[in-house]
Amino acid sequence: MKKDNDWVGIATETEQWLDYHVIDRLMRDNRSIRRFDQRFQVPYEQLAMVVWLAGDSASARNAQPLRYRYVFERPECKALFPHLRWAGYYKDWDGPAEGERPNAYIVQCLDTTIIKDSKEVQCDAGLQLQAITLGLTAFGAGSCIIGAFDRKGVREVLDLDEVYEPLYVVAVGKAGEEVRMVPMDPLTDDYRYYRDENDVQCVPKRAIGDLVIHPGRNSVMCKYYDEIIEAQKKRDRESHGWI
Ligand SMILES: Cc1cc2nc3c(=O)[nH]c(=O)nc-3n(C[C@H](O)[C@H](O)[C@H](O)COP(=O)(O)O)c2cc1C
Repeated sequence: MKKDNDWVGIATETEQWLDYHVIDRLMRDNRSIRRFDQRFQVPYEQLAMVVWLAGDSASARNAQPLRYRYVFERPECKALFPHLRWAGYYKDWDGPAEGERPNAYIVQCLDTTIIKDSKEVQCDAGLQLQAITLGLTAFGAGSCIIGAFDRKGVREVLDLDEVYEPLYVVAVGKAGEEVRMVPMDPLTDDYRYYRDENDVQCVPKRAIGDLVIHPGRNSVMCKYYDEIIEAQKKRDRESHGWI
């Protein structure tokens, strides 16, 4: 891929490539887990440490309006669970059974004294959720971001001050299920996840080549385009075994 006008500063050091590959692997491993092995508990120190990562994230206007509430005591986990909605596509599954439930949660809230409208903080929320779930993946923990929950119920169970608006709940625990990314069928474009005959959670992902907008034949980018696509196909093959 080396071109005359390449910026020579980009990833010239082996170390930088290693950093890239670490992120790549964490991103691939960072799948939504909905069935856990309830015998294990992620130490609360690690819950705290992943929130430190969230604090390093970019923030619109640098307002940093998000706050976190940890939940790891048994009674509180038990009280929180019924307010969460799991896997909307599975109409005949109400969520993890006893023994498969998360043993900890991190509840992301908006401090409404800083920003009132939660629509304004969705990008901040996503960046921090990504940091948190990647951190948990690095610790070998599984997690699931949950946006569908009974706000009133969660607020009551956690006795949240009225200035805090719960935005997302991250369920945390040791993974008790296998999750696999599978290529999305380009004919059906069906993006719904499903469980296969071996009870593996399959998550259709678009081929990376399909994520890129063609620059148009007149663009100077055009001559690089095929090469970029080829590199992306190679990544699909090497990372996922997709053809
Ligand atoms: C903003 C957001 C909200 C989500 N809300 C829920 C939810 O309420 N319940 C749930 O079971 N999964 C929820 N998920 C998980 C998605 O269903 C999951 O990310 C998607 O199926 C892709 O699977 P993957 O994370 O393994 O790539 C949410 C994910 C995001 C990013």
